[in-house]
Amino acid sequence: MIKSRVEEAINNQIAREEHSSRIYMAMASWCEVSGLPGAAAYLYAQADEERMHQMKFIRHLNDRGGHAVLQALEQPVSSFKNLLDVFEQVMKHEEYITASINDLYEVSLTEKDYTTGNFLQWFINEQIEEESTVRGILDKIKLTGSGENGGLFHLDKELTAMAAAKVAAPAEV
Ligand code: FEO
Repeated sequence: MIKSRVEEAINNQIAREEHSSRIYMAMASWCEVSGLPGAAAYLYAQADEERMHQMKFIRHLNDRGGHAVLQALEQPVSSFKNLLDVFEQVMKHEEYITASINDLYEVSLTEKDYTTGNFLQWFINEQIEEESTVRGILDKIKLTGSGENGGLFHLDKELTAMAAAKVAAPAEV
């Protein structure tokens, strides 16, 4: 049976993953109505991945004899200055998620829940990858000069390809 402290921490992480999905969905929607179809496709795919992360936590908690309970969520931000602003916020959010996964890992070790610790390894690796991908996108946006000139068109095309790759090879649940 899972310990209540671990259960509570996982339930909080379930809310954060669901919130991440909504944050990226709102960003995707803004990109879609702002002439950035590639960025929209990328962020819609990212929103799907976050929902998959949420599912992984729900299944882990319920499989371990706990109860995954959904929480009320804050409304996500729906308008942005430009593409740089969008991805700066993605970066900040992913750093926050990395810190919360690390905290959850610490709770699992303190409570001697090594099964959950082992389960969290996948997320620890996933966060390294996500932060690195977003950092790469941010570098490219900065090269286009805040995303206000012609380079943005090519970058948006590149994001279309990155979105297609995400959809074609989703991370396993
Ligand atoms: Fe579920 Fe982007 O971390």
